[in-house]
Amino acid sequence: MKRRKISIIGAGNVGSACAHWLVARELGDVVLFDIIDGLAQGKALDILEASPIDGCDVSISGSSSYADTAGSDIVIITAGLARKPGMSRADLLEKNCSIVSFVTQRVVKYSPQAFLLVVTNPLYAMTYVVKQISGFPKNRVMGMAGMLDTARMRSFIASELQVSVEDVSAFVLGGHGESMVPLTRYFTVSGIPLTALMSPEKIDAIIERTRNGGAEIVSFLKTGSAFYAPAAAVGKMVEAILKDKKRVLPVAALLEGEYGISQCYLGVPVKLGGEGVEEVIELELLPEELKALNKSCQMIRALIERLKV
Ligand code: APR
Repeated sequence: MKRRKISIIGAGNVGSACAHWLVARELGDVVLFDIIDGLAQGKALDILEASPIDGCDVSISGSSSYADTAGSDIVIITAGLARKPGMSRADLLEKNCSIVSFVTQRVVKYSPQAFLLVVTNPLYAMTYVVKQISGFPKNRVMGMAGMLDTARMRSFIASELQVSVEDVSAFVLGGHGESMVPLTRYFTVSGIPLTALMSPEKIDAIIERTRNGGAEIVSFLKTGSAFYAPAAAVGKMVEAILKDKKRVLPVAALLEGEYGISQCYLGVPVKLGGEGVEEVIELELLPEELKALNKSCQMIRALIERLKV
C-alpha cells in the first residue's frame, strides 16, 4: 500500500516537533518546508537519522520548494510568528495573515485534494483565512486549538488527583485559551463526573490556569511559545483522519447554522475521520454557555473584520 504524504509548512518549533511525532508513529512520508533555506533540510535530516533508533521506515525530507509538497494528503500550516512575553495571540494577526495567505495560495496549487490543518495563531482567524483563500470544502479545512486546551486541562486534573491522564477527559468549546468555553459538566475521570471528585474552587482554578496555559509557557521560554503539546495535538488529528478513526474531538470547524452561528470558525466537537470534519456534533447548551460561545464568536469575527479577507 502506498504511504500517505504529509507536508508541514514552517519548520520552526511546532513544525519540527510535529514532524518527529508523525515520523515516529509512521503515519506517512513527511515533507518539512520553510522559507529559511537549510532550516527544514537540517531538521529533516536530524529526524531521518533518529529513524533507525525509533524503528521507523517512513521518509522525511526538508525543502524550500513548494513543488516538493505536491500531492500531499494533509498539509499542516505552522508558518508564522510565535508569541513573545507580553503579546496576545491577536497581536500576531496582520503579519501572520499575510504569511498564511501566501502559504495557502502555494500549497493548494500543488495539493488540490489535501486536508488543510492550521496551527498558526490567532488560530480561528487564520483558519478562516485559509478557508477563504483555498476555496476548499469545509470538511477539508480545520484548525487545532481545542485539543491543546483539553490536553492542558487533563494534565492539570490528573496531577491534582494523582490519576492517569488517560482516564481524564475534558471538553471545551469556543475560542483558544482566554476565550475557550469549558463544559465542566462533561469533565469525567473514567466516566465519574469530575464534580464528584474535586471542589468547584479547584476546578475553577484549573480552568483559569488552562486559559493562561499558553502565556504561562511563553513567560518561561521568553523567546517563543509552546510546541510539544501543540505538535502532539496536531499529530492525533492527523492520525484520526489518515486512519479514519472517526474520533470525537474538539476541532476548529466552520459553523453554518450549528449552535445558531454561521460563517465563523469555532471550537466544537466534531467527528474526525477519513473525510476530515465529517460532522459537527451539536450539544444542548445552557444559556450561559451559549452566551460565552457567542462572545467567542464575536471576538473572532472582530479579528477577521480587521483583515478584510
Ligand atoms: N513560508 C514558510 N515558512 C515560514 C514563512 C513562510 N512565508 N514565514 C515564516 N515561516 C517559518 C519561519 O521561518 C519559522 O521557521 O515559520 C516558522 C515558525 O516557527 P517558530 O518561529 O518556531 O514558531 P512556532 O513556535 O513553530 O509557532 C508557529 O504556531 O502555535 C502557533 O502561535 C504559534 O503562530 C505560531 C505558529
